[in-house]
Amino acid sequence: MQRDPRFTRFQVWPLTGALGAEVSGIDLGKTSDAAVYQEMRRALDEHHVLAVRDQKLTPQTLHEVARRFGPFSGNPVHSPMDGFDDIVRFVREPDDTGKVIGEEWHMDLAWMAKPPGITMLYGEVIPPVGGDTCFASLEHVYQALSPTMRQLLSGLTGIYSGKGVYAINAKHSRLGLRNDATTAEETEVEHPVICAHPATGRPYVFAASVLQRFKGMSEAESKPIIDFLMATAIRPEFTCRVRWQTGTLTMWDNPVVLHTAIGDYPGHRRVTYRTTVEGWAPRAASPEVPGATPRAA
Ligand SMILES: [Fe+2]
Repeated sequence: MQRDPRFTRFQVWPLTGALGAEVSGIDLGKTSDAAVYQEMRRALDEHHVLAVRDQKLTPQTLHEVARRFGPFSGNPVHSPMDGFDDIVRFVREPDDTGKVIGEEWHMDLAWMAKPPGITMLYGEVIPPVGGDTCFASLEHVYQALSPTMRQLLSGLTGIYSGKGVYAINAKHSRLGLRNDATTAEETEVEHPVICAHPATGRPYVFAASVLQRFKGMSEAESKPIIDFLMATAIRPEFTCRVRWQTGTLTMWDNPVVLHTAIGDYPGHRRVTYRTTVEGWAPRAASPEVPGATPRAA
């Protein structure tokens, strides 16, 4: 593994040829230097997933670090922890059974008008092994498409729906849900399918598990295309896998990646804290937009 020489205020070590990097040599809880945060943002734009190691964050310092990246995105589903409107505490106890939270490929709150731009998850209690998080690059999905498919999709608008989101979350007894969380069930938003990242201009495919259909097409007509896009996204060569340690802060460029939790640690406790940063309303990209080429493409 070779260090990415473009970043000098901390060390950035790419994880795979597709996306993701480990970050070391920085204590975010003790850093308020705007230049460091600008460089961290640049690293996130480039690598999309950063596993920042050896942090010692409390809910207060996680809140302070997150807000240096931007305002809270809002969370219409989960009840926040006491004292912090912008933080959700996820707890998995050793005797819990069933799926772990987030155990399917998804994008956080993709059915919002402005899906969160950054998700930040801090690991306080991590199992001795297992509980990794996998990520997939939606930029690579775009790069993998034929010109004809790009052209077809660039003319389409997706209908992204919160239908089913309440039920999935309600299965987790330790997860508090907002009193009005059921409104997610009726939420539908329209977004372009081929989008451009606002910071890099690179095109990506807005494929997500909550993409229900394409505007002007039935669900039956849309489903084979959506299934194809999701299957393309999670091709192994388009993914990376973060192995957690106590004190790891993993942050991801939420609109351009999918992620999934892995429930392979029965009998162990896991405690994480999540906050999100406001994103942008997805913007359409023309297939002709050259865009920078993703890594290894
Ligand atoms: Fe998630």
